[in-house]
Amino acid sequence: MKASRRLVLSIGWLAIGAQGCATTESEDTAETLQASTALGDPLPGTDLTAFTAARDNFAQDEDINDGLGPTFNEKACGNCHNLPVIGGSGANIERRFGRVTDGVFFGYDRDPDNEGGTLRQLFSNGTYQNGDVSCTIPLDAEAADANIHNVGRRTTPLFGLGLVDAMPDAWFDFIAQTEPSSVRGTINRVAPPIPDSRDPSQAIGKLRVSRFGLKAQEPGLVSFSADAYDNEMGITTQSCYKGSSMLAFANENYPNNVAPPSGCNGGDLAPANPDGDPQVPVYTDDAVGDCDGGRDELQGDVHNFTFFMEHLAPPPRNITNPINFARGAAQFANAGCAGCHSAVPFVTPQHPFNGVPGNHVFFPFSDFLVHDMGFTRRWNRGDRRQRRHHAADANRAAVGRSLQHADASRRTRAQRRRGDHGARRTGCGCSQRVRSDVSREPEPARRIRQRAVNITAGRRDATRAPGRG
Ligand code: HEC
Ligand code: HEC
Repeated sequence: MKASRRLVLSIGWLAIGAQGCATTESEDTAETLQASTALGDPLPGTDLTAFTAARDNFAQDEDINDGLGPTFNEKACGNCHNLPVIGGSGANIERRFGRVTDGVFFGYDRDPDNEGGTLRQLFSNGTYQNGDVSCTIPLDAEAADANIHNVGRRTTPLFGLGLVDAMPDAWFDFIAQTEPSSVRGTINRVAPPIPDSRDPSQAIGKLRVSRFGLKAQEPGLVSFSADAYDNEMGITTQSCYKGSSMLAFANENYPNNVAPPSGCNGGDLAPANPDGDPQVPVYTDDAVGDCDGGRDELQGDVHNFTFFMEHLAPPPRNITNPINFARGAAQFANAGCAGCHSAVPFVTPQHPFNGVPGNHVFFPFSDFLVHDMGFTRRWNRGDRRQRRHHAADANRAAVGRSLQHADASRRTRAQRRRGDHGARRTGCGCSQRVRSDVSREPEPARRIRQRAVNITAGRRDATRAPGRG
């Protein structure tokens, strides 16, 4: 366990971590102290052995024999979430496409034009041998009639998200109420594709405030883990929730929704399951099995990813210069930033369902709600200058309000996967230290990196490792 560092906060609440802090006479009145951890450390009270094992699992490369593919973006969660430590943000940029017709967004996620959703995975398993059969998996491509192209989303950091998962829905209603009506965020409520069975307030089909992902597209870390495993790595899983088989992320993403020829084992080389079991699809890569008898069990990797993210502490705040800190905080408020990047301290419930510390105070500087970032019209108009601008500043190539509203009433499984609800969720301040490292890079360097991703994407095959950010 790291030694605690004492930081002076300029606001009047008390947050002392598990390590405790000895206070001196001059420090303990109006000023309060916060025990701090280093970036990438677990929350106080976390079982270190379990945390380290879960982090290793998160960072572990997988291959075609483990079920990687048929299409994928990377071989491990930790290959994207790695700046400046495992669990952080990353330089990898994902690619999405879609079509807007009369202001209505379509994500190619349902018939008659089901191309498998808006995420264009950058790699495929290429050519491989399955016994006597030679199989070739093409790359995922944008649909021919897409008019929103190559939208980039950069990897976001995961620090402190277990504390966010622990917050009850009412907290987000409260945060929204504290915001000025001119910029007030919209709460996105989604039934978790896999409810978290530790939380008595979650159930199959029951809405929860959706708080994770740039579009606030996933309501919990359990679902996000299985979702990302499927959509980023092509590794499909099945879990049991209180006796029901959870199949939301049990089916492979085929490139452009075209299944590989029979004899190709569903596009990878993970052993197939017996045919005809309604609880376990044939090509699910990692299955728990039959859920009868009230069985409640998460697939092992999904469990480990959840545990790792859940116990990853928020980054320490650098308050070594309290005067500048207070000045900056005032400017942040005066400029209206805090209208969306809520400066309200979050406090976890007394006994969080997910085992993170209770009554724990933290400052994510996000409301976890979606906001209209106002880019729709430019996209719709097809203004080339604006497009170029967005391509350069890939992480902000947002689609806006009308898309969000068009989608909201017709959310499908594919949309839920990685979210296409239009507006963007407020960036989480947890990341600022991390992101600034990269965003300080000169613009051309970023553009070159993006181009490198695009170019290499065209030539991948199973024998070549995807580039790390
Ligand atoms: C190819 C890069 C890549 C890989 C691999 C990847 N992620 Fe991510 N991750 C991203 C990007 C990009 C985002 C933000 C985009 C979005 O929300 O649509 C993100 C967002 C997230 C978020 C939401 C963070 C927030 O602030 O709400 C979680 C949780 C997450 N990833 C978990 C995982 C897990 C677990 C894995 C492994 C199974 C994984 N990711 C693999 C790129 C990646
Ligand atoms: C209308 C709501 C709104 C206001 C006001 C606002 N932001 Fe944001 N901010 C967002 C959203 C939404 C995102 C994330 C989506 C994106 O990247 O487009 C974001 C992202 C960010 C990020 C990146 C965070 C990350 O994790 O990548 C920073 C830094 C930031 N804002 C700073 C500011 C500052 C400083 C101000 C005041 C000058 C401000 N914002 C005002 C909504 C807002």
